[in-house]
Amino acid sequence: MTDYWVVLLLTLTLAACRPGPSESGAVDAGATEAGTAAAGDAAIVLPGPDEHSYARPDQVVVRHLLLELAVDFEARVLAGTATLQLDWRDPAATQLVLDTRDLEVSAAEAQDAAGFWQPLAFSLGDRHAILGTPLTVQTPGQPASVRLTYRTVPSASGLQWLSPAMTQGKQLPFMFSQSQQIHARSWVPLQDTTLVRFTYEAHLQTPASVMALMSADNDPAAERDGDYRFSMPQPIPSYLLAIAAGDLVFQPVSARAGVWAEPALVAAAAAEFADTEQMIGTAESLYGPYRWQRYDMLVLPPSFPYGGMENPRLTFLTPTVIVGDRSLVALIAHELAHSWSGNLVTFALSRDAWLNEGITSYVENRLIENLYGKAWADMENVIERNGIADEFTPENLPLQRLAIEPGVLKDPDENLSATVYAKGAWFMQFLEQRIGRSDFDDFLRGYFDHFAFQSISSQQFADYAEENLLSRFPGKVSQAEFEAWLYAPGIPAFAPATVSERLAAVDAARAAWLANATLPPSTLTTGWTTQEWVHFLEGLPATLAEPQLAALDTAYGFTGTANAELAQRWYPLTVRSGYLAARPAIAEFLSRVGRRKLIMPTYSALAATPDGLLFAREVFAAARAALHPITIGSVTAVLATDPVP
Ligand code: BES
Ligand code: ZN
Repeated sequence: MTDYWVVLLLTLTLAACRPGPSESGAVDAGATEAGTAAAGDAAIVLPGPDEHSYARPDQVVVRHLLLELAVDFEARVLAGTATLQLDWRDPAATQLVLDTRDLEVSAAEAQDAAGFWQPLAFSLGDRHAILGTPLTVQTPGQPASVRLTYRTVPSASGLQWLSPAMTQGKQLPFMFSQSQQIHARSWVPLQDTTLVRFTYEAHLQTPASVMALMSADNDPAAERDGDYRFSMPQPIPSYLLAIAAGDLVFQPVSARAGVWAEPALVAAAAAEFADTEQMIGTAESLYGPYRWQRYDMLVLPPSFPYGGMENPRLTFLTPTVIVGDRSLVALIAHELAHSWSGNLVTFALSRDAWLNEGITSYVENRLIENLYGKAWADMENVIERNGIADEFTPENLPLQRLAIEPGVLKDPDENLSATVYAKGAWFMQFLEQRIGRSDFDDFLRGYFDHFAFQSISSQQFADYAEENLLSRFPGKVSQAEFEAWLYAPGIPAFAPATVSERLAAVDAARAAWLANATLPPSTLTTGWTTQEWVHFLEGLPATLAEPQLAALDTAYGFTGTANAELAQRWYPLTVRSGYLAARPAIAEFLSRVGRRKLIMPTYSALAATPDGLLFAREVFAAARAALHPITIGSVTAVLATDPVP
């Protein structure tokens, strides 16, 4: 642990004693080099610097953001101003360095003592393919506020713009953001690092017919008038900044939760997510109060590149989980769980992403168990863990550590790995089983309270666990075991196993079919949910003979399935097996769905043969216009077509 900054923490310690979200939440990333903390100052250790940001939070920290933006659908541009309220930490600092990507910045100004805005000199540096472009503003006199006038470009990596034809209703355009991990900088000039938290207010102007929403205090009864104001009083890291606008209507699922979606989808979405209030209540009983007021969900077009995104107060969701039987609501449990693990207690650097995703996957599974029973939770658990085997190879050992070493993670978008999700959750399950559920629940609840509205490192988690878990419950978990989970690659040999009886029945049915061609009878399969079908497909050999695939299709109709989780597994199998009958359905699937996890396996399978690659390129060429920039980047890399602009 040699690469940590010692951080002056007197102010943070004081702030943490004060009640109220805006005070207790202020992240103190102001850092000095080791050893410079004055005698008597409380000091803790924070990781730094952030290798994915040009910002210098050791010199100055953004505390509050004020956005004034016009949403221009014709030009596919956000244009206006961002005013940053600054907390200067280093008396010698003369510059404000911000992260940007492809922003057109036309002015930088500071407010003088009389309240007038005076121009500041500024310059944009070289563009880095992953990190974007540093914006350096000369700030003599350390002004309290700096205002940037800017506009985004139509290809902004954190925004997708959809024409009316690309929406469900076909009447109005649509736009939405995806800021995680480092795309906020493509639509707002800011310190795009998890080390910094800020509150924000925004004023948006859109065409009057369009509804605008943000990761803030959305009003379910807001009038559609093209003029919208938002406030987010809890301090958040930049990756939780979010915006969406389109033909969006609201339907409540409870007093504090509801669904925003296009009119044609909202009823189905509200029905699918009807258990949300019960999930919130369960999470609160385990981990303490929900601290973000409302919990609303926004159903996005199918081009949304992820399953879900935990934007505070407004989870963004793929429509592909609306399958009619609530079988994929673990996604809601997951994004809701981030209200504690992630949004309340945030990883300080992307290399500690497991603190968000691993703990969230653990909490997700606990919510599923509470609402739908252990058999269901076990299925989800086994399916998640089965993904580990495919991903852990001798080449990617450094990425199999929960606490990834500095320099290993080039692009933080490429960190949705089995390590951060499945291994992280498994670590938590291990601790729970060794310590005992009730004591472990108390520990996690205390952890969320202790680090509320802060960004922390794996080391801080380890120190807190040492004090509140390992020493408090001696003889249950050894230091060596704890460190093996955190710092060694792979899964420790002493990891606890999970079995799922329901999935064991699927294994037996699959084995019977492979051995003697007896398909699982409908008396069995009528009770199967998405999870059983996913497991059935995942356990099949890498390739099957054409008659076998045809038999499965005849019996269960996988080709053309409306369930994208099944399509994700079925189509790569057909591609590897040379089952050309599935191609038209593959083309349809790949042009309809943009969620990376669902479509990338099929693109990768196709790219493995020259003929498949040709077909994939054709499909991609037709689908590209409707895809999100993040997905376009991933597909382009696999198909080795033109580099992303
Ligand atoms: N926060 C993530 C999405 C994310 C992670 C975006 C890293 C960019 C970089 C979100 O909570 C998530 O984990 N989504 C998953 C769903 C889940 C049920 C595993 C997804 O989109 O697949
Ligand atoms: Zn997540």
